Amino acid sequence: MINAKITGIGGYVPEKIYDNAYMESIVDTSDEWIVRRTGVKERRISADDEYTTDMATKAAKKALENAGLGAEDIDLIILATVTPDYFTPSCACVVQRNIGAVNAAAFDYNAACSGFVTGLIIAKQFIQTGMYKNILIVCADTLSKATDYTDRATCVLFGDAAGAAVVSASEEEGIMTTDMGADGTGALSITSLAYRNDDEEIEKRVAHRKDTIWMAGQAVMKFAVKAMADASNKVVREAGLTWDDISLVVPHQANYRIVDSAIKRMGITEDKVYLTLEKYGNTSASCIPVALSEAVEKGRIKKGDNIVLVGFGGGLTWGAALIRW
Ligand code: ACO
Repeated sequence: MINAKITGIGGYVPEKIYDNAYMESIVDTSDEWIVRRTGVKERRISADDEYTTDMATKAAKKALENAGLGAEDIDLIILATVTPDYFTPSCACVVQRNIGAVNAAAFDYNAACSGFVTGLIIAKQFIQTGMYKNILIVCADTLSKATDYTDRATCVLFGDAAGAAVVSASEEEGIMTTDMGADGTGALSITSLAYRNDDEEIEKRVAHRKDTIWMAGQAVMKFAVKAMADASNKVVREAGLTWDDISLVVPHQANYRIVDSAIKRMGITEDKVYLTLEKYGNTSASCIPVALSEAVEKGRIKKGDNIVLVGFGGGLTWGAALIRW
């Protein structure tokens, strides 16, 4: 069996910062509430003329450089986003053009915040069948452009970022056990509207605007804790390992309380978890690759380490992967 391994990783965050003092100035909230209930202190915000593909291109170039590959070596680009520049063309095709990946097929997929792990699982299938050798996964979202800044329950959470990884055919073990799933009964727990006219959806938004994200925070939180813990426990168990064999967990960074409750269910402590939540907030699918890239840069991940990546998000969806670095 051919192994699929992450051979390059890169992240990008925009320069502009909305800190909690700024959030206090636009909605009825406080730094104390936001930190205690979410763990977020700052979020990065894209420039007015900076869109998902602009950030995606920057992260993609970093991942390629980190992998030591040229754009022409890439066979496939898959891109996860819930804030595309266009419905068509796909953001993946725009990135393909921007980086000059002339040999790559390209498509977008939507698994919301579960996008990175879903991408690893997609990439693994193409590599194990022998169809492709080098796949570029890109996760990018300009959530700030879809945030209702009059809704204090969502606007304090979201930020913008992009993360990318190169997954290549390898003789070494890489993406080991994986799990992904969906629970469509919770489909309307997190919504971002397109063509469907749905008065109820528009009514429940604070600003009654169609172009923003809405979510049922508590329901999502409850789902997230169980989904993240169950999926993580499953990939460790199925690899024949225990949590003692795992060096680091890189979870989706939605809310500190979700991470804290989930790791208690896994039976691990925070020193095994890599968090970027405080400075970037929830940046959708890019949370995991941005955190992974930073953890590698800071020496928190070394060759041979077993790492669990786990996410959840709109759909509702979830995904976990045990990878060997
Ligand atoms: N500042 C002050 N008060 C607030 C704020 C705020 N920013 N936000 C909500 N409140 C208030 C509410 O209005 C409510 O007031 P009330 O009791 O007078 O009605 C009170 O705080 C409690 O509200 P809850 O919704 O019960 O607060 P909770 O502790 O659940 O925290 C939160 C809300 C942060 C949204 C939490 O539910 C959460 O993080 N949920 C998960 C969100 C998530 O992870 N989404 C991921 C997917 S997103 C994607 O896929 C793009």
